[in-house]
Amino acid sequence: MAEWEGDDTANRIYYLSIAPSLYENTIANLGKAGMVHEGNGWRRVVIEKPFGHDLVSARQLNAAAHQVLAESQIYRIDHYLGKETVQNLLVFRFANSLYEPVWNRNYIDHVQITAAETVDVGHRASFYDGVGVMRDMIQNHVMQLLSLVAAEPPASFHAEAIRNEKAKVFSAIRPIRPEDVAKCTVRGQYRKYRDTEGVAPGSNTPTYAALRFFIDNWRWQGVPFYMRSGKALAAKVTEITIFFKRPPHVMFPMPEGTEPAPNRLSICIQPDEGISFSFQAKVPDTAAEMRDVEMSFNYEESFGALSIPEAYERLLLDVIKGDASLFTRSDAIELSWELIDPILTGWDSKYAPPLNFYESGSWGPPEADQLIAHNGYKWSHCCGHEPGGD
Ligand code: BG6
Repeated sequence: MAEWEGDDTANRIYYLSIAPSLYENTIANLGKAGMVHEGNGWRRVVIEKPFGHDLVSARQLNAAAHQVLAESQIYRIDHYLGKETVQNLLVFRFANSLYEPVWNRNYIDHVQITAAETVDVGHRASFYDGVGVMRDMIQNHVMQLLSLVAAEPPASFHAEAIRNEKAKVFSAIRPIRPEDVAKCTVRGQYRKYRDTEGVAPGSNTPTYAALRFFIDNWRWQGVPFYMRSGKALAAKVTEITIFFKRPPHVMFPMPEGTEPAPNRLSICIQPDEGISFSFQAKVPDTAAEMRDVEMSFNYEESFGALSIPEAYERLLLDVIKGDASLFTRSDAIELSWELIDPILTGWDSKYAPPLNFYESGSWGPPEADQLIAHNGYKWSHCCGHEPGGD
């Protein structure tokens, strides 16, 4: 490469889209061969997910990477952060003045995050069977969404300012103890999973998870954050729904035992990228009958059909520019594993909740509905995809 580049001004990106078991050796050998030493050109290393298998291995990988690379040379990719709609979360929250005053425990009742997929594990079974939904989707993508919903306003748009606030969210989340997993989590597996080539006979790998977290800080104390993700579900949809508190008193006559639906803000990450706000409106020509109506923003309508680039386009451009805002820092990765590890430990122990089987094309095991119903809630209907939701 040196011969081909001619002098030491060339820049290099090494993109490790390889089996995770090879990351450590590859990085060490790049170091030994002097290939990450920065002369007049820079050297950056992009590391794909999964970054570690658990907290210990993530720490080990971070330590190995730091042996030969400065943190500023490492770009841990989570492609969800490259999604336009995910980046828009910061703009929506902090470039508008309307929502921030109500973005807290005084006004928000609970938050739901859904990352549902219709695809099953297909030909990726030999990778997926040792990983499961917690490591494949929750530890990274879903936790990243949670951190952007819950973060305090960063003081600037600089990578470190944003990454500091996200790391603070992770450190404020109350870990679910292994002995509490049956109370706070649900795990599922679609029925045909075990018939897939590459899946170990009798595999207990979960392809679906639903869980409830609390964030112990002033802004979020007592507000449940529910999240769920799964494969072979009824729709491909990723959505964050903020449920606001109901009015303290309803003066309108309503049928016995009913109350108006709460205001909801639905942020559709994909596929119908947009944001909608649901509120009550009076049905015309009635005394005070109410119905849910929506104000909505849709990317395509506002910005045109080609407005949303591929997440990777943006992320790879950022690596070239040296902007790490949309990449995960070593501390955040470890903090996120600190929350996922005890759940996985619980799932492997006598405290584990049953592995619930669900039909492909359904919305996952009914136990997930019970998890949320326990507090009187229902899963959101997700950009209109899920019939029968609230
Ligand atoms: C990947 C997971 O990180 O994200 C896959 O490994 C999953 O299992 C994919 O299907 C989902 O990404 P997207 O962008 O299609 O929601």
